Parts: sequence; C-alpha cells; structure tokens
Amino acid sequence: MFPLAIMKPPRVKLPPLPIIITSICVLFFFLVLYAERLSFLSSSSSSFFKFKSCPRRSNKLKSSDKKAEEEGGFGLLVDDRFDFDPEECNVANGKWVFNRSIKPLYTDRSCPYIDRQFSCVKNGREDSDYRHWEWQPEDCTLPKFDPYLALKKITGKRLMFIGDSLQRNQWESFVCLVEWVIPEKRKSMKRDRIHSVFKAKDYKATIEFYWAPFLVESNTDIQIKANPKERVIKVDEISERAKNWTGVDILVFNTYVWWMSGLRVRALWGSFSNGEEGSEAFDTPIAYKLGLKTWANWVDSNINPNKTRVFFTTMSPTHTRSLDWGNKEGVKCFNETWPVRKKKYWGTGSNKQMMSVVAKVVKNMKVPVNVINITQISEYRIDGHSSVYTETGGKLLTDEQKQDPKNADCIHWCLPGVPDTWNQIFLAML
Ligand SMILES: *[C@@H]1O[C@H](CO)[C@@H](O)[C@H](O)[C@H]1NC(C)=O
Ligand SMILES: *[C@@H]1O[C@H](CO)[C@@H](O)[C@H](O)[C@H]1NC(C)=O
Ligand SMILES: *[C@@H]1O[C@H](CO)[C@@H](O)[C@H](O)[C@H]1NC(C)=O
Ligand SMILES: *[C@@H]1O[C@H](CO)[C@@H](O)[C@H](O)[C@H]1NC(C)=O
Ligand SMILES: *[C@@H]1O[C@H](CO)[C@@H](O)[C@H](O)[C@H]1NC(C)=O
Repeated sequence: MFPLAIMKPPRVKLPPLPIIITSICVLFFFLVLYAERLSFLSSSSSSFFKFKSCPRRSNKLKSSDKKAEEEGGFGLLVDDRFDFDPEECNVANGKWVFNRSIKPLYTDRSCPYIDRQFSCVKNGREDSDYRHWEWQPEDCTLPKFDPYLALKKITGKRLMFIGDSLQRNQWESFVCLVEWVIPEKRKSMKRDRIHSVFKAKDYKATIEFYWAPFLVESNTDIQIKANPKERVIKVDEISERAKNWTGVDILVFNTYVWWMSGLRVRALWGSFSNGEEGSEAFDTPIAYKLGLKTWANWVDSNINPNKTRVFFTTMSPTHTRSLDWGNKEGVKCFNETWPVRKKKYWGTGSNKQMMSVVAKVVKNMKVPVNVINITQISEYRIDGHSSVYTETGGKLLTDEQKQDPKNADCIHWCLPGVPDTWNQIFLAML
C-alpha cells in the first residue's frame, strides 16, 4: 500500500542492500523537501510571492485526432463528447494527446514569477516534448485556458491557494497563465515567507498563496525540522492561521505529501502541559483524517457557501520508483521524456487510502467542496517533473550533480507543464 521509498524511516545499522537503497531514497526525499525549504527562504529575501443536460457535439471526424494518433496518442476518431460539466464529466477518465503545435501560454523566461525550483528550461532542460501534451477527457471537451475569462471570473475577488509547495506550483502556474495579458504597470507581486499576493489592478483581483503544508498547524511548517521524528502535527489546531483565510472569495486547498514522511506521524491534540511530549504516533491515514476533519469543521463553521467557493486539489503523485512503470534500468523519474501510456496507470507514489480519506471527509461537509481531481491525470506524467533541472540549498545543480539521477526532484513539476492542466480543469470548474 505505502510507497516504500517514501515510507521507510532511515536506519542506523547496516541491514541488507535493499534497505540501504530504500534509506538512500528516503534521505533524498527529505533533502528535496528540505532544499525546497531553503529555496523558499532564499526567494523570500530577493523579491517577494442538479442535473442539466449537455449539448451533444456534432459527430465529426477531427483531423487533429487522426494526427494525434499518428503521433502516438491513443486516438479518437469520432468526437461525440459533451461540453465540460463537472457534474457530468469525470475528468480523470481520459488520455494525454501529443500535439507539437500546442504552445504553452508562457515560458519560464517570459513569466517572472516562477521559482527556480520549477524553471526547468532556464535550468538547462533541453527536451521539450513534455510541454506539448493536451489532456482530453473521454466524455467531454475541456475548454482551453483563456486568461481573459479567468480574469473575468475573479474580477473584484480574492483567489487564494493554500497548502504546500505543490500548491505553490499550481499558484505560480495560475499567475503565469494570466499575467501576460496584463500591462506591466497594472500588476504587482508581493512575496513573503507565508503569504504572497499577486494583484491585477484593473480587475481589482488578487491571486494569493498561503503556506500551510498540513493545513493544520505543526512544529515544522514555519521552522522546518529536518528529522521527521521530531515533527509534531497539531491535528486539531487551525483557527489561528485560518483567520487569514476569511474574507477570501475563492479558496483552493491541498495537503498530502508532507504527511508521507513515514508509516506513522506524531500528532498532538488538546492542550498538554508537557507540550510536544504529549504527542502520540498515529498511522498516517488516521492522523490525516483527524487533520482534515479539523479543516472541514473550520470550513463548515466559518465559510458562507453563498459568498465563498471552496476547492480541494487532490494529491500530486510522486514518481520516485521507476519499477512502478516498468523501467528496470531507470532511477526515479530521471531522464523520462514521455508519459506512461498504460490506461489507469497508478504508481506507489499516490496512496489510495489517503485519497479515500479526502473523499469521505469532503462528502460529509455542509459546505460543498469542489474536488480538483488531478491525481490520475498526473500519474501518467513521469516526464513532467523538475527532475535534475532544479536547485538544491538555493543553488542550481552543477553539471556533475545533474548526471546523478539520485538528485532528481520527482515531486515538483516544471513550469510551464502539468500544473497548467490542473488550472485548466480548475478554471472549467470555476
Ligand atoms: C493541435 O493544436 C492546435 C492548436 O491548439 C490545433 O489547432 C490543432 O487542431 C491540434 N491538432 C491536433 C493534432 O490535435
Ligand atoms: C494574518 O492575520 C493577522 C491578523 O488577523 C495579521 O496580523 C497577520 O499579518 C496575517 N499574517 C499573514 C502572513 O498574512
Ligand atoms: C444562501 O442562500 C440561500 C438562498 O438564497 C439561503 O436560503 C441560505 O440561507 C443562504 N445561506 C447562508 C449561509 O447565508
Ligand atoms: C538519458 O537518455 C538519453 C536519451 O534517451 C540517453 O542517451 C542517455 O544515455 C540516458 N542517460 C542515462 C544516464 O540513462
Ligand atoms: C479522484 O479520482 C480517482 C480516480 O481517478 C478516484 O479513485 C478518487 O476517489 C477521486 N478522489 C476524490 C477525492 O474524489
């Protein structure tokens, strides 16, 4: 069930080889999270961050699909898909279609707001196929991301992404997808360790990011504790930081990868006079459920669904075990340039038990939560990660470090890239 590479805690004694390899993987996992933290700090110092029936489309042969098939797509000859409707269409069910004439709306040079962690081309990534894929759901058509429509939908509003670094990945993608249509003087960006705000002045709109990797509070999200054993998650504490989320019109939450530091996590609840000593280790899905419940209660008792829309982005898959997709010689997602083609492919980096916790918690909430279900579609995209085109400890990997697959970041995504599709789905739901 659990992804071994992530879940096994490092050991001190020298056990058999597989365990050593596992331990090395774990170590790198934390280095990546830790490095991300450092880059986070360094960037802070420089410049700151009912049912309705759908119209059926005409049955016509799309030459595009034929070409896509020739180019390696699964192909689809007759297009009888509905226009997108989140109630009717399961976006997760579909395929990636390659189309070289798809151009992302921005590059990591044109958009000034991309962290170095995600700026793959700037960091030396030369293969470009990963930028030319389009997600096509089977039952409906997903509208292209229209920046003017996006700005229209958030006019006079505050949009806030809240969560971990993958949520920051999605936030930066959203900002970059819209910022290029706004003249220089009519926009601004203020980045801060916790709370970053992009302003579109003519639209009286803000697109914000709020750092809260567990959503609930912990002793490790502001001052990171490198040793997971020292991390304590306060599974029933959210209200203090959540004060900063009230008055926002559109809230987009996520939380997953930070919970996955071991088979169990230390949780604290209620008030203990002995503080962190009073914490107890829980199986991860149980602690996750307690944390999400706290979040759900906060939403249900503080959010007026007539005024505020709430979204939740599901877990972003990690690709740290190349055997998952049958690459025996591979190491993590290193050197992968093409998505997995196997339908319904699901690796060990996405934990189904954790997913079902989200589904259950959300189902029992008073306030309707729109789930942006990105897990399945991103599972295919082993080619989309930052890999070795990233930084460590605030420094770009050297050419020598880039040769070593173990340095690959297979958690975060290049921008432009896969998170643009998450936002395409998000905008269609908005
Ligand atoms: C590829 O994308 C372009 C631009 O969006 C579109 O005009 C064309 O029809 C697409 N072709 C295929 C092969 O899908
Ligand atoms: C959070 O809100 C409080 C007031 O409610 C404010 O003082 C503080 O600066 C805010 N923090 C951030 C990071 O926005
Ligand atoms: C939301 O609007 C509906 C219909 O106008 C109303 O019945 C309901 O009381 C409102 N809910 C809140 C929490 O204001
Ligand atoms: C990476 O891929 C390229 C092209 O497929 C290949 O030539 C190279 O040997 C691969 N590198 C490693 C270390 O596997
Ligand atoms: C997201 O989609 C997957 C199938 O791709 C499904 O198993 C899962 O339950 C969905 N998650 C939520 C939270 O709805």
